[in-house]
Amino acid sequence: MKSKNETSRRDFIKLGGTATLGLSTLHLTGCKEGETENVAKSASNQKGNRRFPDDFVWGTATAAYQVEGAVKEDGRGMSIWDTYSEIPGKIKNNDTGEVACDMYHRYKEDVQLMKSIHAGAYRFSISWPRVFPEGMGTPNPKGLDFYDRLIDELLANGITPYATLYHWDLPQTLQDKYGGWQSKETSKAFAAYAAYVTEKISDRVKHYFTLNEFYSFTDLSYGQGQLAPGLKLPQKGIVQVRHNAVLAHGMAVEAMRQSAKSPLEIGVAENIVTAVPVMDTRENIEAAKNATRELNAGLLTVMLEGKYTDKYLNSLGSDAPEFTDEELKLIGSPLDFVGINVYLANKYVLAADNEDGYELLPHAKHHPTMASPWHLISPESLYWAPRLVKELWNAKEIYITENGCGATDEMTNDGKIIDTDRVMFMKNYLTQLHRATSEGIPVKGYFHWSLMDNFEWIFGYGIRFGLFYMDYETLERTPKQSAAYFKNIAKSNTLI
Ligand code: NOJ
Repeated sequence: MKSKNETSRRDFIKLGGTATLGLSTLHLTGCKEGETENVAKSASNQKGNRRFPDDFVWGTATAAYQVEGAVKEDGRGMSIWDTYSEIPGKIKNNDTGEVACDMYHRYKEDVQLMKSIHAGAYRFSISWPRVFPEGMGTPNPKGLDFYDRLIDELLANGITPYATLYHWDLPQTLQDKYGGWQSKETSKAFAAYAAYVTEKISDRVKHYFTLNEFYSFTDLSYGQGQLAPGLKLPQKGIVQVRHNAVLAHGMAVEAMRQSAKSPLEIGVAENIVTAVPVMDTRENIEAAKNATRELNAGLLTVMLEGKYTDKYLNSLGSDAPEFTDEELKLIGSPLDFVGINVYLANKYVLAADNEDGYELLPHAKHHPTMASPWHLISPESLYWAPRLVKELWNAKEIYITENGCGATDEMTNDGKIIDTDRVMFMKNYLTQLHRATSEGIPVKGYFHWSLMDNFEWIFGYGIRFGLFYMDYETLERTPKQSAAYFKNIAKSNTLI
């Protein structure tokens, strides 16, 4: 059963609601046209150099199932998220992505939203079941048509597209047929899909992320049963799922380079387990570095080194994954950049006189959090994550593929969303990012999660991550205070 709100949202869509953008979109709170230059000047009057590198990319990010809606249109197949969100009780309020932000129909207005906040890049994901309704076999041309339209619209507005090929919406057929990521057949199907998409869009899209947040769609989805398909496999099963996922990445990198019509830049978008030295001493920094390598051993480390660490394999014993040397070589295929989603310090680290050389400290009971209980506030993660990626793996280019926070934003009677919590979050995290770029750590860009409030997986629409507020009844988008803050920074390329 759908709620009353759902019904009225659909009626609104039937009315064909196109431009729901009010004028307010272009005149953000505290950020009228022409004011940004002054902001930049006053920022440069502040002590120290607050500019980011000249070619720094400021973008926003979303993912197909979270924003597109139109799940049954133009021949799209079912994904595991359609199935999962239909099971009563799995998603807060039994919300689904059926309508989401209706971006499938409103992408033109949404590109204008990006433009209005001076975002120069957009990270979006391609829905695999739109392009291959059964995951493999015959493609559905209408599926890719949507992304063609979106890409053309972005380019016409001076916004660089960055495509993610997998953001968790696995075609249901592959789950039914092969058990999804439990089988290497799914890895192969992913590589074929990735190559097909690349062939079609590489004339216009240069930057690609293969898969998004491996830990989430492997461990949390097949091990802890929290995300679709909601399985609780024993350790051996989970470890193999992880391996099949990184294998899909490696196979796709090779296949994409072969099918591309022009040179590509390929990386991942991984939620790195971020280890932060509890105090910045030389010993603790070394400890955090070693911890980072081991904490990411089954995912990012193997993709960047082409081998599992001894410690990882030894600790798994007979539960170790089944793999070949040839697979490892593929998994370690050279990348053009490393993309990391950074939200928090997963672990604080202290150097220790033990076998590992480090100790992982528990977070204090009252460590402050943002609105999501998991979101421990730790701005310094946005400095340490890229720094340690650079030091450990000599990454030539790094992107922050996601950073942002959830909040319970509310609209005031006069139509404003004063999200001081998000502005505080951004100020502090971006200060640490600036620390990184000013030390020469090669961070090339930052994608704020998210452009607008959207379907936050099992939390449904109950928590909001956007720079734009979504009225889920009318689908009207309204800029929040944080949108003005983002615009000031992006336009001036300066930390405000
Ligand atoms: C990680 C995921 O990639 C994205 O889909 C999610 O909405 C955000 N982080 C916020 O939790």
